[in-house]
Amino acid sequence: MAQYTLVSGAVGLITLQNPPVNALSAAVRQGIVDTVERALSVPKVKSVVICGQNGVFCGGADIKEFGTNMSGPPLVPMIHAIEAANKPVVAAIEGSALGGGLELALGCHYRIAHSKARLGLPEVTLGLLPAAGGTQRLPRLIGIPAALDLITTGRHVTAAEALQLGIVDQVTDHNTVDAAVKFALSVVGRSLDARRISTYPCPRLSDLDALFEGVMQKVRQSARGAIAPVACVQAVRAAATLPYTLGMEREKALMATLFTSGQAHALQYCFFAQRAVGRWSMPSGARWDTSKPRPIHKVAVIGLGTMGRGITVALAKTGLSVVAVETQEQQLMEAKQAISGMLERGAKRRGVAPALDGISYSRKIQAVADVDLVIEAVFEDMALKTKVFQQLSAVCKPGTFLCTNTSALDVDHLASQTRNPELMVGMHFFAPAHVMKLLEVVYGPRSSPQAVATAMQLGKKMGKVSVAVGNCRGFVGNRMLKPYIEQAFFLLEEGATPELVDGVLEEFGFAMGVFRMSDLSGLDVGWRVRKGDGLAEPSGQSARIRQGRRYSPLGDLLCEQGRFGQKTGQGWYQYGKPGSRVAMSDPWLHSFLREYRARNGLVARRIDHQEVLERCLYALINEGFRILEDGIAAGPEDIDVIYVFGYGWPSHRGGPMFYAGMVGLAKVLERLEHYHHAHPDVPYLQPCSLLRRLVASGSPPVHSWREVIKKLHSQL
Ligand code: COA
Ligand code: ADP
Repeated sequence: MAQYTLVSGAVGLITLQNPPVNALSAAVRQGIVDTVERALSVPKVKSVVICGQNGVFCGGADIKEFGTNMSGPPLVPMIHAIEAANKPVVAAIEGSALGGGLELALGCHYRIAHSKARLGLPEVTLGLLPAAGGTQRLPRLIGIPAALDLITTGRHVTAAEALQLGIVDQVTDHNTVDAAVKFALSVVGRSLDARRISTYPCPRLSDLDALFEGVMQKVRQSARGAIAPVACVQAVRAAATLPYTLGMEREKALMATLFTSGQAHALQYCFFAQRAVGRWSMPSGARWDTSKPRPIHKVAVIGLGTMGRGITVALAKTGLSVVAVETQEQQLMEAKQAISGMLERGAKRRGVAPALDGISYSRKIQAVADVDLVIEAVFEDMALKTKVFQQLSAVCKPGTFLCTNTSALDVDHLASQTRNPELMVGMHFFAPAHVMKLLEVVYGPRSSPQAVATAMQLGKKMGKVSVAVGNCRGFVGNRMLKPYIEQAFFLLEEGATPELVDGVLEEFGFAMGVFRMSDLSGLDVGWRVRKGDGLAEPSGQSARIRQGRRYSPLGDLLCEQGRFGQKTGQGWYQYGKPGSRVAMSDPWLHSFLREYRARNGLVARRIDHQEVLERCLYALINEGFRILEDGIAAGPEDIDVIYVFGYGWPSHRGGPMFYAGMVGLAKVLERLEHYHHAHPDVPYLQPCSLLRRLVASGSPPVHSWREVIKKLHSQL
């Protein structure tokens, strides 16, 4: 809806009303059409101001309407009517002007923004393009390079940047609507000819072809198969080369292709999934809306290795007091320097002061006595962590939440070492912790809902997408990674190369293939875990069977050679020198694989792309179904968010569980059956019962899986 009021005797004030973000639903669009018509027809109204209620201008098109039969007046003629008006129309932008919201503002003759407002055209992140004239008006207003940047990345700009770019005419620290009304009165009677952006010529550039070729190449590379960024470039190119009306036709045609694409559905699913994970629940029935977090003012980080440093930076940036504890003097000095450097670089980029004062450093665990919450990030060693938690239990004030950043150890066992196991949860960050958006909040059987709520809220404050998950080996993300990596190893044994496997996965859209990713994280990490599990040493007659199932010792053999990946300059690839990031094919590795196969009586065969993709992805997805079956993740959205934000899964494919639905659950089941039949000694390929059950119940869409899971659990 939109409300109309007459203010200052001559200004028609139109207020968009659709909580929480005034999205442009059919009712809001109808409201705008009606109120604009009214303002323009009343003689005593000399100018118009458009604003949004509750401090938000407009969050854009109503994404919830996308899947439905859309009704109500369309945006394009509505915005044209505003632009064509013979009375000045001023947009008063508070909070957000995003997508259709900014396009509406671009149709107005003037734009005034509050200094805290954010503006942008994020449609590309939803698999779309700004199709209400955004791709045609923005380049005319701010030039082609700046418009390309905003439209192809979807990034939001601050009011200050918007002013600098020329998107807004004025920025105010005071009441934006008052400022806009005052401004609207001051421009009454002025000619509007020079204020209609659609009539502007697109700023000329000397070598347009070279510019667009360069941008297109860059966009294709970073898009990893996403089609929307490419369409965005094409639409802006139309603005640069065609008259406005033809450009609008091109914008419409490109949008029509994107709108019905699977990618747009996947990205819109991701948008809602990212928000749905905040509404967490635990098998006990505890929920986000009935569990109150405790306020946290002071936090401690124990252990300042790579993870501890990143966590300290992320905490300091929230403005919390942080006590950072590291026992090794040299390591403490290095950490101090590294943390200050990270904070200073980040602050410089954002044009703010670095939050250095909020951190105090200590070598003594006693320094954490008065904190509200502790995050432990010492070596991944059960005996050491046990000792640390026993100490923390003795040192901390009563009620302090104790969290572990372990990526593999049993959170419940660690909780049992503390005086109050209900205060303990896992906070599993991803490296680098000040950059990566994902946080797994791991609850054990004894974790209290308040501990979960508090960790979830702290994660949110740190800018993380936090997902509450149950306690099991590897939690959700790493547990699913295990069968995926295992398949990649088996494919090497059977004739593939790391280049082939990574190529297929990167073509699919992964930020990095499995071998490149392993080289980056360090091959020794998995080796240590396998040694701990008693897997890394051959025990029986065959080196390729361990603990009764097929096993590939390839990773162990590389580690025995000191090839730990990027840090040693050699792993599945070679890197020129230790620490270099450029992976190059390694002839040594290829002959090593040939010798390994010969030694083990394996005959290399030609493996096609489809097999690589299906075996790696379906093994991972199958484990995802097991995780749902076990109640470790509450729903498919939780798993998908974990994979998109923590593991480089391409968001335009929605996440592994959404992808399984897109492929068709029956097909996933059939292929898993096929591969399990071919490899009966690989239990991960055996289709899990939840997948069978979903297929038997007609492969319902992903948003109905929770019902099937609930039924399954109630029958157990
Ligand atoms: N259409 C429909 N619903 C929307 C929406 C939109 N354009 N934008 C936000 N919402 C909903 C969210 O789903 C959420 O609903 P929920 O509470 O049921 O989960 C609610 O509004 C609040 O959104 P949230 O993102 O949690 O609030 P925020 O204050 O953190 O962020 C925005 C506000 C506007 C910055 C953010 O919601 C956003 O980026 N929205 C999308 C903007 C966009 O892409 N517009 C172009 C559409 S083509
Ligand atoms: P990563 O964060 O990459 O896993 P490390 O495991 O190397 O990094 O870092 C763990 C850090 O924890 C090391 O700097 C180590 O000195 C430190 N550490 C180990 N034991 C303790 C302890 N009891 N108290 C504080 N710090 C500790």
